[in-house]
Amino acid sequence: MASNIAKTNAANAVVKNHNNTSVLGTNYENREAGGPIRRNLWAEKYENTEFPLCPDAIENYDKLKKIGQGTFGEVFKARHKITRNIVALKKVLMENEKEGFPITTLREIRYLKLLKHENIVNLIEITKTKASTQSRYKCHFYLVFEFCEHDLAGLLANPNVVFSLSHIKCVMNQILNGLFYIHCNLVLHRDLKAANILVTKTGILKLADFGLARAISSSKSSQNRYTNKVVTLWYRPPELLLGERNYGPSVDMWGTGCIMAELWTRSPILQGGSEQQQLTLISQICGSITPEVWPDVEKLELYNKIEFPKGLKRRLKDRLKPSITDHNALDLLDRMLLLDPKQRIDADNALNHDFFWENPLPESLEKMLVPHTTSMYELFTAARRGKPAQQPNAKLNVKPFFATDQNFERVF
Ligand SMILES: Nc1ncnc2c1ncn2[C@@H]1O[C@H](COP(=O)(O)OP(=O)(O)OP(=O)(O)O)[C@@H](O)[C@H]1O
Ligand SMILES: [Mg+2]
Repeated sequence: MASNIAKTNAANAVVKNHNNTSVLGTNYENREAGGPIRRNLWAEKYENTEFPLCPDAIENYDKLKKIGQGTFGEVFKARHKITRNIVALKKVLMENEKEGFPITTLREIRYLKLLKHENIVNLIEITKTKASTQSRYKCHFYLVFEFCEHDLAGLLANPNVVFSLSHIKCVMNQILNGLFYIHCNLVLHRDLKAANILVTKTGILKLADFGLARAISSSKSSQNRYTNKVVTLWYRPPELLLGERNYGPSVDMWGTGCIMAELWTRSPILQGGSEQQQLTLISQICGSITPEVWPDVEKLELYNKIEFPKGLKRRLKDRLKPSITDHNALDLLDRMLLLDPKQRIDADNALNHDFFWENPLPESLEKMLVPHTTSMYELFTAARRGKPAQQPNAKLNVKPFFATDQNFERVF
């Protein structure tokens, strides 16, 4: 029960009722209550209470279509019955929760209430169904987001969507702008991948899915002990794979580099089936992991416990050259996908890279997207990409770009 209380307190930061009691406690307190007498007491107390920041307003929306199925919730396209505004509703999955409201949703609410920027998805409101006798006083919670017509994974999976070099520059520019903003606000995303980048029909990109985000400690002196079980495996940087717990914005830059390469290769470049295999794939393109190229790597917990390929040279540019001819693009990628996080380029310097300032300059995606009137989401693609950090061994069903050393030429 102690951890329930902790979660209730966290929830209170966002959603409080008039009695200063967390509305988010409804579900588990009901479950804890068990018998009919206590359930009635609960009902008496809360049935007529108003929750101004979290209204029972789900009936204001008509669900139109399911557009996303994540680990932490289902996402629907929906229309507000009065304003007719189209929104995305993310239903909070409570079924698997043993201890109250999901921590990932609390994180998402917390950070998205703080972060307001054109390239960050806008959280409009939080709403819920009304607890009633029929629902056994359980309510379902929904996060209401601005609606985006596509996600980047859906667009990349469709060969009819053709990105020119100028479009790719525009995509990267927006991702990096969003990232620069969140890093300036001392927030790490920790789950960057193409499916978590939304795209509007006018070509505006939005970083989404802040369920794994966290604040960066501003004190430089302390050793942080963040969890390293974050970031979908294919986008996870080598320092996390080696057990680093004192990391920073550079973890997001690695994922951004993987996404940048994918804009040309059209499939994720490093599709390991396990953490060990992921490190092997990384070594095959970035070279062997050694203290010479990455000072202090030997101090990481797993460095001496994992077998690495030895004597491999860095071949990132060579291996991407068949797909990427622009030398500035290759140079920027090379700096984003550096093994040593301390040497990896940050969002600010990446935005100043010649890639964005030499011809052809970035060009809006709006015109290119005009003929694509059907939404493209990862959910609708035949092969769903990546896996959440919690399931590193999930089935691989996207053709890898770099599969093994033997077939590193284009394999799709
Ligand atoms: N505002 C939105 N507009 C349009 N589509 C959205 C929106 N938010 C989410 N989606 C779609 O729903 C999918 C899942 O959403 P999200 O990533 O937030 O959920 P999740 O449960 O955290 O996902 P996962 O665990 O798979 O990363 C996204 O990949 C995207 O396709
Ligand atoms: Mg997601």
